[in-house]
Amino acid sequence: MPSAPDFPLLCPVCRNSLRSGGDGARTLVCGAGHSFDAAKQGYFNFLVGKGTAFEADTAQMVAARFDFLSAGHYQPLADAVAELAAPALAGVREGRPAVLDAGTGTGHYLRTLLDRFVPDRFEPGCVESNPVEGGGRAVDAGSGIVPTAIGLDISKFALRRAARLNPEALNVVGDVWQPLPVADNAVDAITVVFAPRNAPEFARVLRRGGRLVVVTPRPGHLAEIAGQTGMLGIEPAKDERLAASLGGHFAPVEARDLDLALALSPRDVTRLAFMGPAGHHLDRSALAALEAALAPSTSVSARFRISVFAPLA
Ligand SMILES: C[S@@+](CC[C@H](N)C(=O)[O-])C[C@H]1O[C@@H](n2cnc3c(N)ncnc32)[C@H](O)[C@@H]1O
Ligand SMILES: [Zn+2]
Repeated sequence: MPSAPDFPLLCPVCRNSLRSGGDGARTLVCGAGHSFDAAKQGYFNFLVGKGTAFEADTAQMVAARFDFLSAGHYQPLADAVAELAAPALAGVREGRPAVLDAGTGTGHYLRTLLDRFVPDRFEPGCVESNPVEGGGRAVDAGSGIVPTAIGLDISKFALRRAARLNPEALNVVGDVWQPLPVADNAVDAITVVFAPRNAPEFARVLRRGGRLVVVTPRPGHLAEIAGQTGMLGIEPAKDERLAASLGGHFAPVEARDLDLALALSPRDVTRLAFMGPAGHHLDRSALAALEAALAPSTSVSARFRISVFAPLA
């Protein structure tokens, strides 16, 4: 677990700064005496008051997500997100850069991003998309400064996984629709992969020159299995809605489309169906029946858009 002073955190109760409570990184306290203990798995619960009405991902949905992502099917997406977020974190200002992964889930995408800054963990396969004069080493690792990181999610089941996968990050149970527990202008990059976006709060915490990297599905995403598995359809004009929801706070900088041709086992098809929002509604016994009926390999197209935004001045 990281040490608290690394993080520009605010108390979720009174908005004073939070600091380490003197027992290493396991307690955070503010000047007004509010205190937060780490759960034994290492994450902090910042949901205060009566909490949120939002339906958090369940343990089964989170397990399905973890297993699916661990199999590497979406790794090119994780690499692309990391590549687009990394420049904002690569030694562009004094001090330690900071990244917020909003709706971090199991922490998979944040892990890939942080690994770019740790030379020993960097996958040589990424070098091509990450050119460096003289070749070979990741430009991000070249700064020698590993960003400090905050993973936020409303699901404690997700945070248990994230805390294990990203022990160096601060993993926080919190609601993206509430004021974020992060100081103004404190982070250099925000990543949001299939998760809700609170534009005014993202704009408040992102410094000028920082970048917001958002992943959304494009029409046709997982179309081959959407009907069979009861997954929610991709609504048209999502792109325009994304821009509109961020407009007034962010301007688009660039967008990259990524298509993956997946060959999925029956188990992976049902994991994929179960790990998203549809997991709240899907009938597990019907999914088990589907899994039994599926061919050994199903061709599925994953269609993503990765959009990069800059805060408006
Ligand atoms: C489709 S999952 C994506 C998770 C992760 N980014 C990934 O791609 O693996 C959406 C995530 O957003 C989280 N989430 C949904 N509503 C939220 C909210 N209001 N505040 C924080 N997290 C939220 C869910 O718990 C879930 O982990
Ligand atoms: Zn406080």
